[in-house]
Amino acid sequence: MKKHLFLALLLSLLAAVPVSAQKAKGTFEAGKGTFLLNGKPFVVKAAEVHYPRIPRPYWEHRIKMCKALGMNTICIYVFWNIHEQQEGQFDFTGNNDVAQFCRLAQKNGMYVIVRPGPYVCAEWEMGGLPWWLLKKKDIRLREQDPYFMERVKIFEEKVGEQLSPLTIQNGGPIIMVQVENEYGSYGEDKPYVSAIRDCLRGIYGGELALFQCDWSSNFTKNGLDDLVWTMNFGTGANIDQQFRRLGELRPDAPKMCSEFWSGWFDKWGARHETRPAKDMVEGMDEMLSKGISFSLYMTHGGTSFGHWAGANSPGFAPDVTSYDYDAPINEYGQTTPKFFELRKMMEKYLDKGQKMPAVPKAPMPIITVPKFQLTEFTPLIKGLSNVVVTPEPKTFEEMDLGWGTMVYTTFLPEITSQSVLSGEFHDFAQVFINGKYIGKIDRVKNEKSLTLPPVKKNSELVIVVEAMGRINFGRAIKDFKGIVGDVTITGEMDKCEVIWKPKAWVNVPINDEYQTAVEAFNTDVPVTIKGDLAKPGYYRGYFNLSKVGDTFLNFETWGKGQVYVNGHAMGRIWSIGPQQTLYVPGCWLKKGKNEVIVLDVVGPKEAVVWGQDKPELNKLQLEKSNKHNNIGDKPDLNSDTPAAQGQFQSGNGWQTVKFNAPKKGRLLCLEALSTQAGDDVVAVAEIYALGADGKRLSREPWTTKYADSENENGNHTGDKIYDLQESTYWQTVKGAGFPHLLVIDLGSEQTVSGIEYLPRAEQGAPGSVKNYKIYIK
Ligand code: GLA
Repeated sequence: MKKHLFLALLLSLLAAVPVSAQKAKGTFEAGKGTFLLNGKPFVVKAAEVHYPRIPRPYWEHRIKMCKALGMNTICIYVFWNIHEQQEGQFDFTGNNDVAQFCRLAQKNGMYVIVRPGPYVCAEWEMGGLPWWLLKKKDIRLREQDPYFMERVKIFEEKVGEQLSPLTIQNGGPIIMVQVENEYGSYGEDKPYVSAIRDCLRGIYGGELALFQCDWSSNFTKNGLDDLVWTMNFGTGANIDQQFRRLGELRPDAPKMCSEFWSGWFDKWGARHETRPAKDMVEGMDEMLSKGISFSLYMTHGGTSFGHWAGANSPGFAPDVTSYDYDAPINEYGQTTPKFFELRKMMEKYLDKGQKMPAVPKAPMPIITVPKFQLTEFTPLIKGLSNVVVTPEPKTFEEMDLGWGTMVYTTFLPEITSQSVLSGEFHDFAQVFINGKYIGKIDRVKNEKSLTLPPVKKNSELVIVVEAMGRINFGRAIKDFKGIVGDVTITGEMDKCEVIWKPKAWVNVPINDEYQTAVEAFNTDVPVTIKGDLAKPGYYRGYFNLSKVGDTFLNFETWGKGQVYVNGHAMGRIWSIGPQQTLYVPGCWLKKGKNEVIVLDVVGPKEAVVWGQDKPELNKLQLEKSNKHNNIGDKPDLNSDTPAAQGQFQSGNGWQTVKFNAPKKGRLLCLEALSTQAGDDVVAVAEIYALGADGKRLSREPWTTKYADSENENGNHTGDKIYDLQESTYWQTVKGAGFPHLLVIDLGSEQTVSGIEYLPRAEQGAPGSVKNYKIYIK
């Protein structure tokens, strides 16, 4: 046969073969004591990265960086709300092209673990659920609510269309898919978790390994018999202890830490979180030496661009834009000292003959931008266009607004005294009367009211409510935005004390979108606003580049809001910090003129921005420290009888203290008199109060009233004992003498019959309390 004829025949034959069939089909399953890849023992060394947190042009670089750490797998979440931003409209293109991301992983010799939720947590807006679900007010999220389940099924099927051709059984890189996410921290509902399992099984087929992840303290609550069980825990944890219960229940099961936390996320108003490289590396070394699989969460955190950062609860603790996570690969994809320490250790566990891949070159250089002014301005509020008048203020969801700001206006009667404005404002409300700024109501500080001055009849009350990320953790994920419920004003009218409810509200939704900003500059609507109300608005400026590269723009002179660069939503800014710069990827910049728009809902001190070659992730500019050491808040316990006193046991794990008799009170006071190790630094990871029926009371309304000592620099403040996170803790500072006292305000009077106490998860439970007294007051 002639050479070219043979070639043509070969090509036509190849064209007839489906693409997936060209790749070798394989298997992945849980075997005895180990995972089996194509029938052979396999330790999963997974790197967690989130494709929406990385600009698409950098995807392959980041995958290669993970490979250069000796990883063999990439672990991803699929965030439902970024793919279905409007109900029924799916987007798997551009930065949302999850299938392409998986193909890139495969191209680079990496397997993939997919965690398609529907709920994911991940410090991502609403834990990945779409906000529009909340348009059905009484929806039961993450339960078998018919509408929720119907939408979940549609979403999972759409993801399946993208990813099911890429399972290992089909010759693709996907070896496992996760069912739901840490359901044990949400509830106990095996029928619901089973329904999600069945949905995923229907999509990916019976051969693909499905798994559940949870904490060692709660995985049995929802553990399904036919799924792989994996544990989540962080740097420093006592690894044997974490797998003890699993080993008892399933002695032959492979062990995997499905989220080994390399660092931690940052929230607005608290210090940047870090975790020691040494502890992280030692933990991973220990796991590998025992054949335990892991996914390092995060190996590269990236950035929660735009409005995608979520918030934690109890309370309301919104996350910053950077998702650096103190991960070995930093936010902008470069190496850190942690990276090299990890790489060195991982080298020991390479397969025979395998070499550690070289560290890839960064796709862009780092550049800096000289200081420039944002000289163009247009106010946020442009008179009353696009208005809806209603008897009660509307939430964002009722107004079909996903993200952004709502401006609420009403008119007041004559109020002759000072009065108090009260309500639920989600999340940051600024109050103006006749254009004059009166004050703010900040949900982060648990504020729900503001004192108003006396006012004349028909004074105009304007409340500008900016929303931050919806809560992504715990029961509070049903987080409506804007004014939620009634607004009341308590004051003196006609010489009588009255509670007044305004009965006509003008609601103006302002979407957080680049296009909205551009239109604000273009619109000719006559500006009818006055005074301080003119400060919140859009500021625009430009900078010129002769060469593009990654950079960090500093916004520390600004108030609070959003930034768009060349039309890309870069993320939130807030003067309180700790994050003061935004990462601006070079792939979104261009030679010549680049545009920056800042939506500042407060208004800047100075409308300037400058570039720097390093991020600023740890500069707080707080009105007041986060400590709870105001001596006036310390209750006098001298004449009180403790509800319980005694000695805790040493070691890791939960302990319960039952009181001899239930006690009524609003304050829960834990007095630590000594530690197990005999040193003076006390640490407590979690505390629950048990109600009259012996069940855990909700910690939703809890606040910290007083702590004699708190290690604020490490973010080990008193509120950490009820933040639903077993890996964070309250810790006193060295040298602060005994006794140590932590006082929790339970929000209202409660009957308490005991407490549950969890020391730190690290080996030997450092700082664990020995002698204690508990008071209910
Ligand atoms: C849990 C969740 C993750 C993430 C981490 C904290 O483990 O499963 O999505 O929220 O906590 O970073």
